[in-house]
Amino acid sequence: MDANVKSNNGDARWVDRVGLLRAVEEHFGPYAHSSIHGVSHWKVVEKNALEIAAFSGADILVVTLFAWFHDSCRVNDHTDDGHGNRAAEYAMTQRGVLFQLDDHCFELLLEALRDHTNGKVSIEATIGTCWDADRLDLTRVGEFLKPKFMSTAKGKELAFSLSL
Ligand SMILES: [Fe+2]
Ligand SMILES: [Fe+2]
Repeated sequence: MDANVKSNNGDARWVDRVGLLRAVEEHFGPYAHSSIHGVSHWKVVEKNALEIAAFSGADILVVTLFAWFHDSCRVNDHTDDGHGNRAAEYAMTQRGVLFQLDDHCFELLLEALRDHTNGKVSIEATIGTCWDADRLDLTRVGEFLKPKFMSTAKGKELAFSLSL
C-alpha cells in the first residue's frame, strides 16, 4: 500500500503523513524550522534512511517514522539525554492516531527511538538503518564520520565517502 495515505479499509499499517508532519513540528515548538535538530535535519534523516533501506532491507515505514519522531521531543540543542525516551513515549501516544504498525515493527520503532541517544550500533537492519541515517547527518555540525560507528554496510560506505 501507499505508506503516505491513511487507510480505513483494515490495512495493518499506515501513516497520515501530513498530519504527522504537522504534529511533530508543533510538538517540537517554535524553533522547529531553525533548530539544528529540527525539520531540516528530519528531512535529511528520512532521505538517508530510504537510501540505506534500499540496501539493508529495513522496514520503510519504521525508518520514516523514526526520522520524524526521533528528535521531536528535544528540550534543547545540546546533549539532552532523555529525548530518545521521550520520543518513544510520544510515538506511543500517536500509534493508531497518526500511524499504525504491527506489534513487531512498533517494538523496532520504540527501540530505535529510545536508544538512538546511546551511541550503539545494531545488527538489526531496521534499527541500524535508523541510527546510521541520523549519524550520517552529523556532517551538518562539522563532525567527522567514522564507518565503525555505522551499523549497516551501506551506512559504512556512505560514512566513508562523506569523510574523504
Ligand atoms: Fe537525537
Ligand atoms: Fe537526530
